[in-house]
Amino acid sequence: MRPIYIAGNWKMNKSIAENNAFFEGLVSFNTSFNSKRIVQIVCPPYIYLEKTKEITKGTNICIGAQNCSEQDNGAFTGEISVEMLKGLNIEYCIVGHSERRQFFFETDSLIQQKYLKLKAQGITAIICIGETLAEREANRTFSVIETQLEGIFDGLYTLDNNTFLIAYEPVWAIGTGKTASPEQAQEVHQFIRNWFEKKYNKEIANGIAILYGGSVKPSNIKELLSCPDIDGGLIGGASLDLKSYTEMVSIAEGE
Ligand code: 13P
Repeated sequence: MRPIYIAGNWKMNKSIAENNAFFEGLVSFNTSFNSKRIVQIVCPPYIYLEKTKEITKGTNICIGAQNCSEQDNGAFTGEISVEMLKGLNIEYCIVGHSERRQFFFETDSLIQQKYLKLKAQGITAIICIGETLAEREANRTFSVIETQLEGIFDGLYTLDNNTFLIAYEPVWAIGTGKTASPEQAQEVHQFIRNWFEKKYNKEIANGIAILYGGSVKPSNIKELLSCPDIDGGLIGGASLDLKSYTEMVSIAEGE
């Protein structure tokens, strides 16, 4: 049985004081929450990572970064390397979020480079894919997903599925309050899993965790998680509030 991932992507939100208060609260929630199946991941801004690791030390709470450089080191002003993340014992890193694709022009081949750097350091990549509204309306959802997967995994003939998670995030559902229906999400998740089966094999495909992202909240997470190919959520807005994040963790535990 695959784990269920409740992953928060905070984007560029919260003050340091708010960050610390959230994690102190989450540590306290975890003193009475014990689950072997739920993986809790929160990805705060880079600048809070070190303090966050300190607060969550010795707990099951996993901390992720929201991005990383594809370069090892050098004159890349403003960038953060995978080695720097490793130095803080960061366990996960989001790559290829649609906001990075849209505002920072990230491509599938760049996403592959970042994934390979993360893999080399033993940090699990959360690889994001998803179609825009125009692409969905033009009935191009599956071809867009396929092109993204082909680009990201191009030339990778063997895979270790413990090195990444996939997050399917339809761009039209991000921050819009519009959630893909469980049926819409499930059919894309199944398509993604089938793609891995065709390109690699069934065992690899069955081992890959595929998270759904796009306006996930306590009121809709249960039905999304009840779909056979949805293994968790990558959650923006609703992960910022401790009560709502822990509520989603508790709902997932009941699945
Ligand atoms: P929302 O949950 O705010 O729609 O954001 C989703 C997202 O982009 C997570 O990476």
